[in-house]
Amino acid sequence: MGIRDCLVFIFLCSCLQAQLVHPLNTICNSNDSKALEGFQNGLDSRIDGWGNNSLYCCSWKGVTCESSSASDMVQNDSFQSSSMRVVGLELAGNGLKGKLSDSLMGLTHLRTLNLSKNFLWGSLPSNLFDSQDLLVVDLSSNQFSGSISLDTILPISLRLLNISENQLFGSLDASICGIARHLEVIDLSSNKYLGKIPFGFGNCSSFQYLSFGSNLLTGSLPEDLFGLPKLKTLDLHDNLLSGELGSNLGNLSNLINSDISFNGFSGFLPDVFKNLQNLEQFSASSNKFSGHIPESLLNSKKLSLLKLKNNSLNGSIEFNCTAMVSLTSLDLGSNHFSGSIPDSLSSCQQLMSVNLAHNNFTSQIPEGFKNLKSLSVLYLSNNALYNLSQTLGVLQHCPNLSFLVLTNNYHNEVIAAYSNFKFKNLKMLVIANCGLTGSMPSWLSNSKKLSLLDVSWNHLEGRIPDWFGEFTNLFYLDMSNNSFSGDIPQSLTELQSLLFSNTSVQEQTENFPLFKKVNHTANTNLQYNKLLSFPPSLDLSYNMLTGPILPGFGKLQHLHVLNLKFNKLSGQIPGALSSMTNLETLDLSHNNLSGMIPTSLVCLSFLSTFSVAYNNLYGIIPNGGQFLTFPESSFEGNAKLCGLQFVSCQPQVPQQPEASVVDTTNDTEGSIEFVGLQFGIGVVSGFLVSVILCIRWRFIFPKKSV
Ligand SMILES: *[C@@H]1O[C@H](CO)[C@@H](O)[C@H](O)[C@H]1NC(C)=O
Ligand SMILES: *[C@@H]1O[C@H](CO)[C@@H](O)[C@H](O)[C@H]1NC(C)=O
Ligand SMILES: *[C@@H]1O[C@H](CO)[C@@H](O)[C@H](O)[C@H]1NC(C)=O
Ligand SMILES: *[C@@H]1O[C@H](CO)[C@@H](O)[C@H](O)[C@H]1NC(C)=O
Ligand SMILES: *[C@@H]1O[C@H](CO)[C@@H](O)[C@H](O)[C@H]1NC(C)=O
Ligand SMILES: *[C@@H]1O[C@H](CO)[C@@H](O)[C@H](O)[C@H]1NC(C)=O
Ligand SMILES: *[C@@H]1O[C@H](CO)[C@@H](O)[C@H](O)[C@H]1NC(C)=O
Ligand SMILES: *[C@@H]1O[C@H](CO)[C@@H](O)[C@H](O)[C@H]1NC(C)=O
Ligand SMILES: *[C@@H]1O[C@H](CO)[C@@H](O)[C@H](O)[C@H]1NC(C)=O
Ligand SMILES: *[C@@H]1O[C@H](CO)[C@@H](O)[C@H](O)[C@H]1NC(C)=O
Ligand SMILES: *[C@@H]1O[C@H](CO)[C@@H](O)[C@H](O)[C@H]1NC(C)=O
Ligand SMILES: *[C@@H]1O[C@H](CO)[C@@H](O)[C@H](O)[C@H]1NC(C)=O
Repeated sequence: MGIRDCLVFIFLCSCLQAQLVHPLNTICNSNDSKALEGFQNGLDSRIDGWGNNSLYCCSWKGVTCESSSASDMVQNDSFQSSSMRVVGLELAGNGLKGKLSDSLMGLTHLRTLNLSKNFLWGSLPSNLFDSQDLLVVDLSSNQFSGSISLDTILPISLRLLNISENQLFGSLDASICGIARHLEVIDLSSNKYLGKIPFGFGNCSSFQYLSFGSNLLTGSLPEDLFGLPKLKTLDLHDNLLSGELGSNLGNLSNLINSDISFNGFSGFLPDVFKNLQNLEQFSASSNKFSGHIPESLLNSKKLSLLKLKNNSLNGSIEFNCTAMVSLTSLDLGSNHFSGSIPDSLSSCQQLMSVNLAHNNFTSQIPEGFKNLKSLSVLYLSNNALYNLSQTLGVLQHCPNLSFLVLTNNYHNEVIAAYSNFKFKNLKMLVIANCGLTGSMPSWLSNSKKLSLLDVSWNHLEGRIPDWFGEFTNLFYLDMSNNSFSGDIPQSLTELQSLLFSNTSVQEQTENFPLFKKVNHTANTNLQYNKLLSFPPSLDLSYNMLTGPILPGFGKLQHLHVLNLKFNKLSGQIPGALSSMTNLETLDLSHNNLSGMIPTSLVCLSFLSTFSVAYNNLYGIIPNGGQFLTFPESSFEGNAKLCGLQFVSCQPQVPQQPEASVVDTTNDTEGSIEFVGLQFGIGVVSGFLVSVILCIRWRFIFPKKSV
């Protein structure tokens, strides 16, 4: 036996051993391993856990193999035919970067390809799939771009195609229906497809799930789209589609979920919901629908979610709750509904979220709302409701009520401050812009779970009560634009969730956006979509508060906005405010504050809006940190305030020991370089001062403050 033979023998032995160690069928088909290597080489980064021993590519991360034919295996012990074929490649969310290589085509037995949630880019190769077994392709949530005609890449076998959340564009082509005849799920949402939805998708008779949402599609819907017998989900939201929704909608008898919101559909909603016996969710918000809610929709048996917000609907909202036993979420905001809120709604016992805001309801709350035991979210703002005491008297019986928004109703009523209402589970209460009179209601002290309270733009008066200190979740308090007087209570400096980052606030999934009025006149409202998107704030502006700004505010390390402007506060600005390390807005303007601006405030490194305008401050404007970015208007209206940035300092100004000021009054017509140099020195010394001070405040203040 020669050396050569010996080597061959050893090789065969090791192969045999490989088969023993990795019991039978673990050897990767060499064509498949080449394809996988080609795929990896096309990427910019290596894939974690992909070794270089291509014999065992079946054990690489994300790779699934199967023997090419199970019966072959039993009777056939030839080495090659016992090799495994790659049938699955699933590497979703693995941080893959780079392009998709043509070599994937070599995986001729592939059934599942899932590369979603990576950073893959470039165009999709037009000959991507050669496997006639391919069932699932998920390339969603990547950065693929370019236009690709889908019919050229899809094999006949395909059941699911998800290429949503990419940058793909072009027009839709219904000829895929001729190729991928078994396609059940197609998700092209969140791309840049444009043009009309062409006639022909009606031929995709296997479709169960169709989403073209969040693209740039225009025109009206082709009639044959409603001829898809198995369709369960139709998602066309956020496009530029228009026209009327015809009675053909009723042909989609298996429909469970339909979202056509954020388009330009108009006309009446067709009265065909009787045929849609399985419909659970229907969203047609933000269109131009007018007329009534059709009778059949008011009787839809399985419907649990109905969103018709921001249309021009009017007429009756007499939902037949005997039929609609599943209704949990109802959004009819921003329409032209008028008259009374019907008592019949009270029988929809499953209701959890109700939005009737921005309509023209002129009534009290139906007494029957007492029975809505599941009700958690209720928005009634911007109607013409009256009798706030009655509203509160009824709603206090809803044990799960957590989010209540009553803004812009009840005009000029009295707030019933001394009634004994109990709202134990209230997390958010907004009663702004009602012109209410009276003092801060004492019944609110029972609502210890409040996270957000907004009573701005009323005529409330009297002192700010002490009991806020007991609210451990309160992180947003807006009492601005009222007539509150007296001192700011110590308890506001002890709010637990502003002292510590308290993110235990439970968010309701079905929330509606909220607006904060920021201006008397203009429509410059801020919109917040979630409770947690509100910045932690204390807004006491535009009141008649007196006394000092408490140094204890410094402890509120989680506060983002402190607005005390337009009050009658006096005394000095406490240096301790510099401990509010997350503060972004500090507005103390239009008060009677005196003394100097504490230099320590340069430590507030997130501060982006700052004003002390129109007070009686004197001395030198601190020079460093964010103070280098504030405009002159932040300081105006203080006769004796000066600073390097703006006004040159007068000799009589008392010197602050720590601030080194460069006097530019008597410079010799300074050249640009000279001024620049001085400014530079100012900045550097300001910086040093701020470093020293910040260290000082961080370490010394907390002990002092306790
Ligand atoms: C690899 O592919 C070629 C061409 O399709 C084919 O002839 C060959 O038999 C394949 N080899 C294996 C090990 O499957
Ligand atoms: C296989 O990978 C190891 C380390 O990853 C490397 O040292 C070795 O040279 C590689 N072998 C081949 C044949 O590429
Ligand atoms: C072994 O496999 C080959 C190719 O898959 C097949 O043609 C042949 O019939 C098999 N042999 C037996 C004994 O089944
Ligand atoms: C792809 O993988 C991700 C992450 O594992 C998973 O969430 C997603 O459902 C998969 N796609 C398909 C179509 O199964
Ligand atoms: C498609 O992928 C996106 C993002 O990965 C996912 O949110 C969506 O649910 C998927 N669509 C289907 C129909 O599974
Ligand atoms: C739909 O399918 C029919 C029959 O298979 C075919 O004649 C027709 O051209 C197809 N329509 C479109 C728009 O592709
Ligand atoms: C809807 O159904 C009606 C009655 O069965 C039928 O005449 C119409 O052609 C159907 N529309 C579509 C788009 O299939
Ligand atoms: C209301 O709907 C229109 C489209 O009809 C849309 O342009 C607008 O942005 C929507 N408004 C809101 C607040 O969603
Ligand atoms: C409801 O809207 C329709 C269509 O816009 C209009 O013709 C009708 O007068 C309105 N009805 C009421 C009561 O406002
Ligand atoms: C309400 O629904 C019930 C049950 O489907 C039905 O019997 C009743 O006639 C409906 N009432 C009205 C006014 O449509
Ligand atoms: C609300 O109703 C009143 C009286 O019914 C009417 O004068 C007013 O125009 C309506 N407002 C809106 C916005 O529809
Ligand atoms: C309110 O809006 C008006 C008009 O847009 C603007 O001129 C004014 O400055 C705004 N006032 C405040 C306090 O923002």
